[in-house]
Amino acid sequence: MSRIKSVSAIEILDSRGRPTLLANCELSDGSFGRASLPSGASTGSAEAHELRDRDPARYAGLGCLKAAENVSQEINRAIAGGVFASQQALDRCLVDLDGSDKKSRLGANAILSVSLAFARAQAAQRGVALYRQFADIAGTVPRLPRPMINLYSGGLHAGGQVAIQDVQVVLPGAITMSETLAVVSDVFRSAGTRLLKKYGMRLLTADEGGLAPPFASSREMFVEAVRAIEAAGYAPSDDVVLTVDVAASHFYKDGAYHLDGERLDSAGMVDRIDEWRRDFPIVSIEDGLDEADWAGWSTLHQRLRGHVMVLGDDLLCTNPARIRRAIAEKAADSLLLKVNQIATLSEAAEALRLARAAGWHVVLSARSGETEDDWLADLAVGWAGDYIKVGSITQSERLAKYNRLLELEHYARLTF
Ligand code: PGA
Ligand code: ZN
Repeated sequence: MSRIKSVSAIEILDSRGRPTLLANCELSDGSFGRASLPSGASTGSAEAHELRDRDPARYAGLGCLKAAENVSQEINRAIAGGVFASQQALDRCLVDLDGSDKKSRLGANAILSVSLAFARAQAAQRGVALYRQFADIAGTVPRLPRPMINLYSGGLHAGGQVAIQDVQVVLPGAITMSETLAVVSDVFRSAGTRLLKKYGMRLLTADEGGLAPPFASSREMFVEAVRAIEAAGYAPSDDVVLTVDVAASHFYKDGAYHLDGERLDSAGMVDRIDEWRRDFPIVSIEDGLDEADWAGWSTLHQRLRGHVMVLGDDLLCTNPARIRRAIAEKAADSLLLKVNQIATLSEAAEALRLARAAGWHVVLSARSGETEDDWLADLAVGWAGDYIKVGSITQSERLAKYNRLLELEHYARLTF
């Protein structure tokens, strides 16, 4: 039983220098929790609505003062003094208070900041680690997720120089998180050295800290990834494999996929992805098709299942209704879970339960705009994600999560 004394929020900045929220939640016994929120750039249209001020005079309209005020005023008035028996009870109250379809009235950001700060306050009250609190919310058994680590970026996370958004590396056989990061660091360095030779310049990094070179095509991105792995002294396939976020919704226009100078229809895009996974050591394809191309997704899944994970991000938006549909239509077999797409921990836990009941893989994911908060690492551990996707091993907003995973591996003795 937790009686809430007060909640409040302020506007802070994320890793792109854009406003986001930091919320505080105090319980009546003095226990305290705080949480700050990430924000996406390559968003799905079914995501819950992030409330922005739309005042062009501040942060080009992206201010979060209204969302912060909604927490400190209306939400605080509604829940301060209230006793909530569970996370679910609080989340239900927040969703009912908002009353809109996509949490657009109070703002998905306002709602999620309170949901998370309350979880932290409860963990503090019980004297347990945050991952344990998350595990108790979802009824899961904690374990360490394997990281998918960003190597190259394109699409909306970089300058759009290549259509596909992210190429990541995974160590399928690594025994520890600490070993994983050491190997990925070698691969990242060798990739950087190769690009320096090839392009004769230091390359700008993308939103998630990945390298963003002016590759001529998607295929070159995969070729270079394989060479970087080899040049670092590792074996592609055996030691290091690739995962890809195609983020196809963002280059699907006027009924066609605009990829590498070509116009592909849905079937052509499925063929292209199948070709990539045959030619390169790819184990997971995220958002291979547009978020509304449901029939195409079923074909894609039919073609790829058993070979690679068919992972839905923009397609599913961590939304239980969309996940149910994807299960029924056999459109995917893996869930990319981002809590700010749905805006409460309880609804995200429902998404997790549905995916697991269907035998799916689950990837807990950060957003391209992040803060130094590390709750995602605890969530991925507590909810026993198969993978965690945080970005590259540069930039402190990413490292906060990796470093927390190292801490949990070491002190809580968690394993993959
Ligand atoms: P976003 O991208 O955070 O910019 O939406 C991440 C992803 O597409 O997985
Ligand atoms: Zn994605």
